[in-house]
Amino acid sequence: MPRDPFDPETVGAVEHYLEPELYDHEYRRRRADVNFYREVARAHGGPVLELGCGSGRVLTALCRDGHEVVGLDRAAPMLQRAAARVARLSRAARARATLLCADFRAFALRRRFPLIICPFNAFQHLYERHDVEAGLRGVDRHLAPDGHFVFDVLMPDLRWLTKDPTRHWARTRFKHPRTGRPVLYSTNQTYDPVRQIAFMRIFYEPLDLPPEQRRTRVVRLAHRQFFPTEIEDLLHYNGFSVEARFGGFHGEPLGPEADAQVLICVRSR
Ligand SMILES: C[S@@+](CC[C@H](N)C(=O)[O-])C[C@H]1O[C@@H](n2cnc3c(N)ncnc32)[C@H](O)[C@@H]1O
Repeated sequence: MPRDPFDPETVGAVEHYLEPELYDHEYRRRRADVNFYREVARAHGGPVLELGCGSGRVLTALCRDGHEVVGLDRAAPMLQRAAARVARLSRAARARATLLCADFRAFALRRRFPLIICPFNAFQHLYERHDVEAGLRGVDRHLAPDGHFVFDVLMPDLRWLTKDPTRHWARTRFKHPRTGRPVLYSTNQTYDPVRQIAFMRIFYEPLDLPPEQRRTRVVRLAHRQFFPTEIEDLLHYNGFSVEARFGGFHGEPLGPEADAQVLICVRSR
């Protein structure tokens, strides 16, 4: 069994969220999930509770659509970025947003929501069974009796997870959004098949220096992998059932080619 290259909790759930401008730049073209959650909120209504709201990508779109949204995240830099985004909304939309710094495994808002969402793999920071249980207890405490819990996680792809961890993959050049410097982005990962955690490294190599002077920045990110039947079982044993599930944000069936697992859940008891 491979030794964990880094601690998932204190490194793998933290480092990727320290530079929100870079995060937003990397995911600037990711719109399908935002549109999906807008549709979900249109169908089920608000107020909406977003667990792991990050830099406010989804939250601000929902506020603009007229929904009240409470966004909760434990990464202060991401929340600051979300607050700056909220500040740019119209006065009416701004009034619909609330941002809270909290861990979604342990929070109490003393109110219930018809819709709770946990977009873009935030659930994959629940590394152990007790984390999943604590997260789902939080959903249970805050979900209205007929409410919906909607979230997405990656579909585990064993071909990708087990790629050679000594090589660099997904090489892309871009301009750093803050410094304007040219950067070579690449990634690799080590997969622990027992804990089902992917220990990823994201490399940012500055290209405007001679090779011998380049200091590559490495950002580490850990994602728990959830297999489809396992996630249904975890939901089941924690009082939820899956009303619908998809393999993407356009209603694709969940099959071998799916990138994502998108789950629409209700209480089962
Ligand atoms: C990939 S980002 C998704 C952000 C946002 N939902 C989006 O769609 O862009 C995951 C977010 O979950 C947050 N997060 C991870 N574990 C958390 C926890 N236990 N409690 C609160 N937030 C957490 C991270 O800080 C990060 O902002």
